Amino acid sequence: MELRSLQDVFTHELKDMYSAEKQILKALPEMVKAADNAELKTALEEHRRITETQVDRLEQILSEMEESTRSAKKCKGMEGILEEGKELLKDNGKKAESGFTLDAALIGAAQKVEHYEIAAYGTLVAFAKQLGKDDAAQLLEETLGEEKEADEKLTEIASSINEESADEEEEPMTGASRGQSGTRGRGAKASASGWDEEEEAGEGGANENEDEDETEERPRRR
Ligand SMILES: [Fe+2]
Ligand SMILES: [Fe+2]
Repeated sequence: MELRSLQDVFTHELKDMYSAEKQILKALPEMVKAADNAELKTALEEHRRITETQVDRLEQILSEMEESTRSAKKCKGMEGILEEGKELLKDNGKKAESGFTLDAALIGAAQKVEHYEIAAYGTLVAFAKQLGKDDAAQLLEETLGEEKEADEKLTEIASSINEESADEEEEPMTGASRGQSGTRGRGAKASASGWDEEEEAGEGGANENEDEDETEERPRRR
């Protein structure tokens, strides 16, 4: 697609985000499954639901512009971010010493997704306004607000997880505190495939075990 005008750039970016959101929609259920902390699980599940609405909004804007979502090319930026998160879980899920460790990695990956979206939607809102497309601007602003909220929620959960984790480390050997954490050792579950297992053929393969050597030799704590 040739980008001759701001209108073209706007259309291009809308389609890019359409692809990005579709990829996120596919990845989120696996992230929900991988999460250990209940609050994190709920937040990710909630964001999956919201993401469906965001896809609808993009469809609505594009269809009002008489543009088809079919011509949307795969968003490579989002593909890379999701791929990186997936590898992180695959490589380290089974080695993570606790659910906290795994959740921390998961939150980091999810926040990279949110920040990409915040940047993209911020730009889209500005373009829509410049083009005098007030309805589109409003819809995109709603999405932008939701992405920011999701990002803040993740920050909040990260700090509460850190606090919990610090509490546990203070008295790690008592039966009571061990007993409370019935979800420990869940890492193995996430390690089976990372998320988004049924991603189309052509991915995976050669690089999958690239980092294995380094991580293998690192001594485990405790
Ligand atoms: Fe989104
Ligand atoms: Fe998002």
